[in-house]
Amino acid sequence: MKNILITGGAGFIGSHVVRRFVTRYPQYHIYNLDALTYAGNLENIKDIQDAPNYTFLKGDIVDEQFINEIFSKYQFEGVLHLAAESHVDRSITDPLAFVRTNVIGTMNLLNAAKNLWKDNFDGKRFYHISTDEVYGSLGAEGLFTETTAYDPNSPYSASKASSDHFVRAYGETYGLPYVLTNCSNNYGSFHFPEKLIPLFINNIINNKPLPVYGDGNYTRDWLYVKDHAVAIDLVFHEGKNHETYNIGGFNEWKNIDLVKLLCAKMDEKLGRAEGESAKLITYVKDRPGHDLRYAIDASKINKELGWKPSVTFEEGLQETINWYLENTEWLNNVTSGEYSKYYEKQYS
Ligand code: NAD
Ligand code: TYD
Repeated sequence: MKNILITGGAGFIGSHVVRRFVTRYPQYHIYNLDALTYAGNLENIKDIQDAPNYTFLKGDIVDEQFINEIFSKYQFEGVLHLAAESHVDRSITDPLAFVRTNVIGTMNLLNAAKNLWKDNFDGKRFYHISTDEVYGSLGAEGLFTETTAYDPNSPYSASKASSDHFVRAYGETYGLPYVLTNCSNNYGSFHFPEKLIPLFINNIINNKPLPVYGDGNYTRDWLYVKDHAVAIDLVFHEGKNHETYNIGGFNEWKNIDLVKLLCAKMDEKLGRAEGESAKLITYVKDRPGHDLRYAIDASKINKELGWKPSVTFEEGLQETINWYLENTEWLNNVTSGEYSKYYEKQYS
């Protein structure tokens, strides 16, 4: 049995990846390492907590000694690294937290993997999960490819870019076998309601204003989280060492159009009159350094590994809305306590 470490597996994307690996690969023992920050939640992986090939490890990737201890104890042969501070707005108010987790935390994992594997890299793999935001902002035209130069604008994307560079540097310098993916905006179940889609679903349910930054004419490419998990599985198993793959949904939306679609779907689902939720749309002060447009060229992963999204945006969004409406207890739990303080500070 191979011991595999997944970091950040109590978060949004990580929980989907952990679930997929635990259920699909009984030959692996999955160790899920997560510090359970505000974004991590054991409820996200409750359904697999008793699986015989699964162990949860509570710990901080910034804690070098702890990281070295678990690598020595469990002799991991593969690492899928998802733990991160992930929210751009929080990176604007507390950039150092992003350096600690995203840069130093990644370094600790890289060092531990290099030291454990250095005598024999065969069959070992360090998979770093990253974002398309490292490429900066596009104008009206063009797509990010794997060779687009890095040009990060937010403290979040700067910290992810830094960690990406270190991963590649460890590959070049020490021969560490790595793969790296840069993915566009994910959406789906277990998404913490600080990000656009779950925040707006929660506010629509509660008849609260929908704070659209600036004029709302910012564009993102959206991918259903389960399709991202499939891509991660594929790259981990079939990606080539020292390669980067862009992952995207072929699905660009201007924020304001997406919000209007979401409002219409919520009206339907909640039995509200047409146009009712859209009345909640409120234009607010823009995010500083707001990137205009992200769009991914995902043709490499499509051609080389045969991956493409399995659901349309309409389907994925509908499933997401249904999930939030069926899981109001989850939503109430994550929005009680600290969340209201964050919300007040960010949107007052
Ligand atoms: P998330 O914020 O939902 O979850 C992050 C998880 O990491 C949480 O469970 C948290 O407790 C854990 N964590 C944070 N700091 C930690 C630390 N110091 N030690 C151990 N655990 C810690 O994030 P997400 O949206 O699931 O993103 C996961 C990864 O995917 C990140 O690396 C992110 O940069 C990347 N990514 C996210 C998106 C997206 O749209 N959400 C898109 C592309 C790439
Ligand atoms: P977000 O979900 O924070 O993801 P990212 O910044 O990583 O792309 O934001 C998606 C888009 O929605 C982005 O253009 C910012 C915008 N946005 C709002 O207009 N209002 C909000 O309250 C939030 C959270 C985001």
